[in-house]
Amino acid sequence: MLPHLLLLCLHFLISTSTAYADDGFTYDGFSGSMLRLDGVASISSRALMLTDGAPQSVGRAFFGRRFDSISSFSTTFVFVITAPYSDLSGHGLAFTVSATTDSLLDGLPSQYMGMFNQQNLGNPTNQLFAVELDTIISPEFKDVDNNHVGIDVNSLVSIRSQVAGYYTPDGNFSILTLISGEPIQVWVDYDDSSHRVNVSLAPYLQHKPQRPLLSTTVNLTSVLPSSVYVGFASATGVMRSIHRIIGWSFNPNGEAKPLNYAALSEVIQDVRRDNQRSHSRIPMKILIPVVTLSVFVTLVIIVALYVYMKKARESGEWEIDSGSSSFTYKDLVAATSGFSDRMLLGKGGFGKVYKGVLQTSKQNVAVKRVSPESKQGMKEFIAEITILGHLRHRNLVQLLGYSRHKSELLLVYDYMPNGSLDRVLHGQYRQQTVDWVCRFNIIKGIASGLCYLHEDWEKVVIHRDIKASNVLLDNEMKGRLGDFGLARLHNHGTDAHTTHLAGTWGYISPELARLGRATKATDVFAFGVFMLEVACGRRPIEVNGSGEPVLLTDWVTDAWESGSILKSVDQRLEDHVREEAELVLKLGLLCSHPVPSARPSTRLIVQYLVNDVLLPDFQPSFLNLTSRHEDFDQHILASPSVATTMTGLSGGR
Ligand SMILES: *[C@@H]1O[C@H](CO)[C@@H](O)[C@H](O)[C@H]1NC(C)=O
Ligand SMILES: *[C@@H]1O[C@H](CO)[C@@H](O)[C@H](O)[C@H]1NC(C)=O
Ligand SMILES: *[C@@H]1O[C@H](CO)[C@@H](O)[C@H](O)[C@H]1NC(C)=O
Repeated sequence: MLPHLLLLCLHFLISTSTAYADDGFTYDGFSGSMLRLDGVASISSRALMLTDGAPQSVGRAFFGRRFDSISSFSTTFVFVITAPYSDLSGHGLAFTVSATTDSLLDGLPSQYMGMFNQQNLGNPTNQLFAVELDTIISPEFKDVDNNHVGIDVNSLVSIRSQVAGYYTPDGNFSILTLISGEPIQVWVDYDDSSHRVNVSLAPYLQHKPQRPLLSTTVNLTSVLPSSVYVGFASATGVMRSIHRIIGWSFNPNGEAKPLNYAALSEVIQDVRRDNQRSHSRIPMKILIPVVTLSVFVTLVIIVALYVYMKKARESGEWEIDSGSSSFTYKDLVAATSGFSDRMLLGKGGFGKVYKGVLQTSKQNVAVKRVSPESKQGMKEFIAEITILGHLRHRNLVQLLGYSRHKSELLLVYDYMPNGSLDRVLHGQYRQQTVDWVCRFNIIKGIASGLCYLHEDWEKVVIHRDIKASNVLLDNEMKGRLGDFGLARLHNHGTDAHTTHLAGTWGYISPELARLGRATKATDVFAFGVFMLEVACGRRPIEVNGSGEPVLLTDWVTDAWESGSILKSVDQRLEDHVREEAELVLKLGLLCSHPVPSARPSTRLIVQYLVNDVLLPDFQPSFLNLTSRHEDFDQHILASPSVATTMTGLSGGR
């Protein structure tokens, strides 16, 4: 799926001028360096460019030779990260010491920083030590400090981490913004006898701080084999950061030799000039021949690189603007026939969605275009980009990338050929509806996607707008949850504070309407209504014969109270499995219980749906209880199965 990963090109640039010895190496600029590069990494303007500004890409570089015995090693390097927006960025870079270079090859972009994938995270067989410079920051991540430095062992969960910065000689702490576009020097020192690792940062041309930023003990003898590779890994998500290393010195058994700042400053100037030139308006198509050479093999790979460039900013900031190798505004105009109405798929809360066909790959995509007049919309879209770019799940709509044109944002998603579930359930072709097996699978799929958002990912993502029109159907008619524009991130265990009510009537829980605060429980409420909607083929609020609005939850409860809950199942579903339909209806009612603490967690919902856990036996009267109801506690105590479920639940929220 990610061309950069498929297009792994390894190349060796064999040194003519720089020799290595057992006391390591020093690169003051990287021309003629003996590096092994893969992914999108390249040497450009004498700097090692780990990522080139393309979204969803991984770049890595290793010193071309393995070190057969490292003990007390030391390294120092100078890096520059240029981000397209000063308040948003990709995922940073890491210095790595690893057993092989291959173990890193399965690394994914985004939050895995090109080092890990979902399967190998935390696995001791990774044999990897890393110092990560994590940079993803955005307005939506305010409560998460992602301008930090961490020491990682076999995992991205740092054993020690600290806000990026340095201690001045008088002991004050000064924060460094990693993505400032300014050069920063890093030192990593390991002492083999005390097993102490020190990590320090300082602005370029300042002395190494006496007090390290991070200092911890880790027995690397037990983590790494005796032969290791040293290098860097870097990744971008949907943000197009450029990660560069300007100079690098490493010594496997002793202090790293100092860098030559005169030489480095020249490289830095070149890079700055390069950056400004790349802002010129003329789009250019550059063919970069990449020569692959190893001791035994010579391989030539030609990579076509399309660079769409923009006018230099007066500020002279290192900034790239719209245009990646994958999506330029022009590409998207061509793909959607100039955003013609013919290609219109629908209208969302803050923009229109078009079908597009990418000219080069003929791939179908959906392009969402945000209305430029709405500042709020722009903010929410940036939230969407930041969040969606991190998430990968088979039941979530995948964001492929984005483009920015003037004050307009264009988001590119996987195209979902079968449209939204809303159209299938309630649209003009509702007669050709989907059968029970398919609907039950969609419910299970969306439950699993929601569980990923709530429980499985590193941060809690509250979707806030779960409804049938936000569930899209892929080519296998599997459901995928989309539209994270309203989502907000917050850390596990903390509450989201919101300032305005978001959501869609009919799916909004009583406490959300009252307090305006979205939580996992308000998502579960909406999911409950969604389940009923899918099983009954009715909208959350419908008007009855006498012109009064009827809530779907009440309608199903009435059917149950009058003797048969199955009477509420969609008449078109002749093939429904009684037990499954009953489970979906009762679980739907339980999820949309007026009392938040009575609703199950998404993990439990998934377990009920796959029959790992039996749904507690409860009566319709349980659904009418409110937390103020004096019978509430008694009722729960009197009904052991529900009580058990609920105690299990409160811990999960
Ligand atoms: C360091 O902190 C002290 C006390 O907060 C302050 O008086 C001093 O000016 C600071 N020094 C520098 C160089 O900022
Ligand atoms: C780490 O820092 C401490 C405190 O400055 C120092 O005593 C120690 O020698 C350092 N260790 C290494 C390996 O640099
Ligand atoms: C460090 O790890 C190695 C290999 O597992 C072990 O032999 C050694 O005793 C450890 N050292 C300490 C101080 O724990």
